[in-house]
Amino acid sequence: MNEHREQSILDREVEDEQVKQRDTSILRPLDTAARLGRLMWQEFELSRMAAGWVPGVRQYEHKLQLGRFAYLHSRNMKMLYERIGELPGSLSEKEGTPAPIREAYERISQAADAYAFYIGYLFLAERQAEQYDKLLQQLDSVLDAPTVDQLRYISVHRDAVIHGLREQLELSSELGAGRENELKQWGEYVALLWVLLDQAGDTKQMESIVWPAHPTAAPAGPIPEQPLHDEENFPMYRPAPEKAGGRAYDDEEMSPLFYSVKQMHYINATEISAAQSLCYMYYGVQKMPLAFYFDLMRHTWDEFRHSEMGVRRLKELGYETKQFKFFGGGYSQDMAKEFYADMYAGLTMVAEPCSFIKKRKSAEAFWEYGDARSAVQCEFDMVDERMHVDFGKKWGPELYRQAGDLITAAAMSERARERRLGQLGVVPQEEIKRLVKSFPAFCGLSTVELNYSKY
Ligand SMILES: [Fe+2]
Ligand SMILES: [Fe+2]
Repeated sequence: MNEHREQSILDREVEDEQVKQRDTSILRPLDTAARLGRLMWQEFELSRMAAGWVPGVRQYEHKLQLGRFAYLHSRNMKMLYERIGELPGSLSEKEGTPAPIREAYERISQAADAYAFYIGYLFLAERQAEQYDKLLQQLDSVLDAPTVDQLRYISVHRDAVIHGLREQLELSSELGAGRENELKQWGEYVALLWVLLDQAGDTKQMESIVWPAHPTAAPAGPIPEQPLHDEENFPMYRPAPEKAGGRAYDDEEMSPLFYSVKQMHYINATEISAAQSLCYMYYGVQKMPLAFYFDLMRHTWDEFRHSEMGVRRLKELGYETKQFKFFGGGYSQDMAKEFYADMYAGLTMVAEPCSFIKKRKSAEAFWEYGDARSAVQCEFDMVDERMHVDFGKKWGPELYRQAGDLITAAAMSERARERRLGQLGVVPQEEIKRLVKSFPAFCGLSTVELNYSKY
């Protein structure tokens, strides 16, 4: 050992000794950063848990609610992340959630059914609220005012989630009837994991936790292989063999509005399937920068909103969702390593940019027919979609890079269009190269036009 190193070890020992004697009730900037870091990773895991259970709940409104909650956790996370960036210390962003926190939260999310999941989720959200309150009490209102501000913003959304979860459990209490023992055992398991994490204190100590056996033999979520679907109110589209794999929305069987510009609202309503696919992706993609997860969650939540606004407008116009056909989608466990990158490129480089033309023309038509509400809906839709295409250009190549494939945004976009034309199988191979460069012609093949001349 050289002299210099020996000296630095000695210095550290002296410092450690000083830390032991220090008044720890006053938080130094480094201490605050460490507390915020843990809260931030917990928010991330709550967000993954909520998104991962979207396909695990059957009712449409429950899917929307979990989508909203996943977004709120992600927003909280972003606020913490911003403040942590101003404080000293490092976050080890690349490594992601510390392994013991992820382990505990994943175990708690692996519940027997949605009802048990909500119990575990509420427990974690309430404990986290206590952590926030405790930290707020310790912070100096002048020295650490920027942190206090962030926590105050967070508390609004935090309370909304807790309130929503309590209400959810109350409204579905019949699902707990007759299984008191099982649920008591589940609640104890959840509480025990929390105690283990809490007692361990920092992540180094957490690594030595011995995890108790999981009480659920076959969890129903998160990310079930087949998403649950409310078939009664949102019947599934099952195309006749000759119609399968064709242009998107090119079947009058799907919607009583097929020959009307109001078909746009139906298309919006079906975006719940895009939202759900993005939930799988949010849960499944690992080791990306946190900015990616913030953008992806915003994108996901927007698709929930688009579906919600579509369903709302159809109902306002006197229709029931039962009259339309919706999409589901399942997910193989052993998917190719580029599965998510391909899906994301398909959505952001094909489906979303091609939808602009329809949305713009629909907005113009709705204004002409005097339907301002529908027109404005299309305008907001375009605002969101523009942002999604930008997300795609930014993160698509990054996702391919992670899968070992270096590609530029432009090449990724062309490849996604080539793949789409290949799927449709209506264009000769030599035509494909030319068509992918002509955007309107490509979109005309990929998706069906609407009948703007009929309200
Ligand atoms: Fe959308
Ligand atoms: Fe979108």
